[in-house]
Amino acid sequence: MKCTRMDQLLSLVICTLLLLLKAEGVAVPITYVQSAVAKGAVCLDGSPPAYHFDKGVGAGIDNWIVHFEGGGWCNNVSTCLDRRDTRLGSSKKMDKQLSFSGFFSNGKKFNPDFYDWNRIKVRYCDGASFTGDVEAVDPATNLHFRGARIFVAVIEDLLAKGMKNAKNAILSGCSAGGLTSILQCDRFKTLLPAAAKVKCVSDAGYFINVKAVSGAQHIEQFYSQVVQTHGSAKNLPQSCTSRLSPGLCFFPQNVAAQIKTPIFFVNAAYDSWQIKNILAPGVADPHGTWRNCKLDINNCSPNQLTTMQGFRTQFLQAISGLSNSPSKGLFIDGCYAHCQTGMQETWMRSDSPVLANTTIAKAVGDWYYDRKTFHQIDCPYPCNPTCHNRVFDQNKLPEF
Ligand SMILES: *[C@@H]1O[C@H](CO)[C@@H](O)[C@H](O)[C@H]1NC(C)=O
Ligand SMILES: *[C@@H]1O[C@H](CO)[C@@H](O)[C@H](O)[C@H]1NC(C)=O
Repeated sequence: MKCTRMDQLLSLVICTLLLLLKAEGVAVPITYVQSAVAKGAVCLDGSPPAYHFDKGVGAGIDNWIVHFEGGGWCNNVSTCLDRRDTRLGSSKKMDKQLSFSGFFSNGKKFNPDFYDWNRIKVRYCDGASFTGDVEAVDPATNLHFRGARIFVAVIEDLLAKGMKNAKNAILSGCSAGGLTSILQCDRFKTLLPAAAKVKCVSDAGYFINVKAVSGAQHIEQFYSQVVQTHGSAKNLPQSCTSRLSPGLCFFPQNVAAQIKTPIFFVNAAYDSWQIKNILAPGVADPHGTWRNCKLDINNCSPNQLTTMQGFRTQFLQAISGLSNSPSKGLFIDGCYAHCQTGMQETWMRSDSPVLANTTIAKAVGDWYYDRKTFHQIDCPYPCNPTCHNRVFDQNKLPEF
């Protein structure tokens, strides 16, 4: 942009506006991975997978972040049919643009360690965290369970687009995609050039195996159905499937310690998705006593807060054993939140959540570049004044 040639006042206004727009994140267009179709690597409805790619510049041209989007799971044919013709099951229904901010921002002051990297957001359209692979397609439903094939096809496509020269690479993901970055971390490493420095970052992907408030093993049963429906067992870490049933190997707590590639876990100890869908899902709360508490943690009764402190205790048990590993990073804040890397306000801003006076951006950057290890677990809610606790609108559809 040639600001210098314009009238000075006008140029100042335009430059300021552009800077403001940049702060809100850059809009990145969609790319359909047509080459994946011949490999049978397709969305639930058979459409090609897709990603959004913002190219690296300058010193970052050989550095790559491959981020996998989240959006829950479908656990049987009927729930997968419900999702087949939505943006979470078909690239025909996806937005053509996505906004990149926080960890994905191209602005140096918003994202100092990664702003000039190649940054890719892979759209989620398989319903099983990119683990499924069933050859057969029932003509009655036309459902394709091919998430693991999408994972490989997308990486192969990016290798051909320059990632074969990667010097630095990060597999990242949020929510169901944060689970992908855990389950597929070592596989990602094997697909990248041997000399590349490869690490993984899981944001809100550490889903724990706990009973719901009703006492039912809700999430354990649900994951077992996801793995069964999508034929995921053969794509889960063998270090786990050799000793536990495949459904249990969808839980990070049963695979994380064995991951060889360095991995960083960013997770709220009161992950709002997990509170809403694992601890107190609708089926476990028939009278809706948890509804207001789930919308806003400020509405929780003392008893509900006690139950949530119990959830945190179980969360900390599920991550215990990771703190001793120097290659593993932990940023476990005591907030009511879900996915904190992709938003500027929680990634890095003057009022962002901090642990040990450190933002998520600084903790992840220091860990990636081996400047400093980071294993911080926050004190219990409500002790951290820097939290951005989520408040949900009850009139909005459930979000992931
Ligand atoms: C599929 O899973 C959903 C959610 O767990 C459940 O409500 C439904 O009954 C299941 N449907 C079938 C046909 O098993
Ligand atoms: C926290 O970090 C900021 C910025 O890095 C620094 O100015 C401040 O002195 C630090 N505060 C403490 C208590 O360490």
